[in-house]
Amino acid sequence: MVHGVAPVITVDGPGGSGKGTITQMLARKLGWHLLDSGALYRLTALAAGRQGVSLADEEGLVKVAAGLDVAFEPTPEGEPVKVILAGRDVTAEIRTESAGDNASKVAVMQSVRDALLQRQRDFRQAPGLVADGRDMGTVVFPDAPVKIFLTASAEERAQRRYGQLKDAGVNVSIDALLEEIRVRDERDMNRSAAPLKPADDAQVIDSTGLSIEEVLGRCMAAAGQA
Ligand code: DC
Repeated sequence: MVHGVAPVITVDGPGGSGKGTITQMLARKLGWHLLDSGALYRLTALAAGRQGVSLADEEGLVKVAAGLDVAFEPTPEGEPVKVILAGRDVTAEIRTESAGDNASKVAVMQSVRDALLQRQRDFRQAPGLVADGRDMGTVVFPDAPVKIFLTASAEERAQRRYGQLKDAGVNVSIDALLEEIRVRDERDMNRSAAPLKPADDAQVIDSTGLSIEEVLGRCMAAAGQA
């Protein structure tokens, strides 16, 4: 651990690996702050749409990213953190498949990533931070004392997403979800700017076939808190 700097646990991995849930559970259990870095990419794409900035306009997107007026508000246990963009609750809006897809498109741009870098590092405050994303352990917090890379098979991730959407009353085909997951993985892993990959010193945890409690137990053990 770097002396005098708040500790960080990074949780990276592909979408649907359970990262978001695990990060929230870890942060709650430890009483630490939470960073949902994916939300920042989702918000950048959403705010761009609102401001009439095209997702192909890199310069415009950098300005949008740098000027994001966002607040994350804590919620009772079991509920997702509330995300407020320019005074409006966009918690549900940024979670749609298209918001995720748009986020993945703006996230390929190095200049957009640079514009969001310091904002992410500012979340590192005492007593500690649990950071969820794709490049938390490789780029944003390379000195984090604990790095977890959470993964699961594409089929299992599609199945989980299908369950979530069904519960929310959204009708989708599992094959379409699987295809979207594959396309997004491909884009996230093969981009030149901060591609999705485990840090050299990350502990890889495969959550395929495990319950969320089992995954949490493994993550706590990885964090030395079991
Ligand atoms: O974790 P998520 O599904 O909310 O992320 C949405 C997109 O944002 C994802 O496809 C890739 C991108 N992203 C990223 O490039 N770097 C991060 N640290 C987090 C997300």
